[in-house]
Amino acid sequence: MTNEVLLSARQLTKRFGGLAAVNEVSVDLWQGRIHAVIGPNGAGKSTLTNLLSGDLPPTTGTVTLGGADVTGHKPEKISRCGLGRSYQKTNIFLPFTVWDNVRLAAQSRAPQAWRWLSRATGFAQTNERAERALELAGLTPRRNAVAGIISHGEQRQLEIAMTLATEPQVLLLDEPLAGMGVAEAERMVQLLLKLKQAHAMMLVEHDMDAVFALADHLTVMVNGQVIASGLPAAVRGDSAVQAAYLGEEH
Ligand SMILES: Nc1ncnc2c1ncn2[C@@H]1O[C@H](COP(=O)(O)OP(=O)(O)OP(=O)(O)O)[C@@H](O)[C@H]1O
Ligand SMILES: [Mg+2]
Repeated sequence: MTNEVLLSARQLTKRFGGLAAVNEVSVDLWQGRIHAVIGPNGAGKSTLTNLLSGDLPPTTGTVTLGGADVTGHKPEKISRCGLGRSYQKTNIFLPFTVWDNVRLAAQSRAPQAWRWLSRATGFAQTNERAERALELAGLTPRRNAVAGIISHGEQRQLEIAMTLATEPQVLLLDEPLAGMGVAEAERMVQLLLKLKQAHAMMLVEHDMDAVFALADHLTVMVNGQVIASGLPAAVRGDSAVQAAYLGEEH
């Protein structure tokens, strides 16, 4: 299963008025691989994520998920086809417990199929999914904590748990390490490595240490366009990338 492309986007463009926020971008996401997307602020990384998840319809281009054309489909429908995403800005209900947040995520995006099951069966299945997601994200010990009082790192783990609650095959993560300290970032890197095997993953991230620790494939965007894409070591050495983005730091 590791050689399978689960999501494939071709020549995606998104225009906001005169601005091409995403300009003719193609991306393949493979089962068992992490595809990192980096680029300066405003490069179009979140917009690209929104195009893949259905949060925004592309102006032109196509998105294929599991071999089916999902271009222009609503996010709920794309979610039911096996895509899960986290948001750059948090999506957590702060007054609720960790468990309630994960349970709600599992329920809100539950497959339509559960309408045909008895209410009790649907309830049990949703709980089981939420339980597995909580465990996978390492948050079982924090299940009863109120989301607003757990650490920033744990809140980002909760975002991942909520994303996992629908049991997606494709994961799109928009800056999961944002605002984290060194120890929290390291914990998140380990979590993403653990999730890699069973998912196709796109990781938008500014933390270059994490990117180079995790990425199997690296794409660099600047002003909506891909300026380099390939194996991380090759992209790192690319002179256009050095000049446009990575600078002397790396
Ligand atoms: N809904 C929108 N309407 C108009 N312009 C938008 C919209 N969303 C994004 N943009 C613009 O599109 C460009 C790309 O933004 P985007 O948020 O995708 O960048 P990004 O690479 O995710 O940046 P960051 O690293 O800061 O998160 C920016 O110029 C932004 O202002
Ligand atoms: Mg962004």
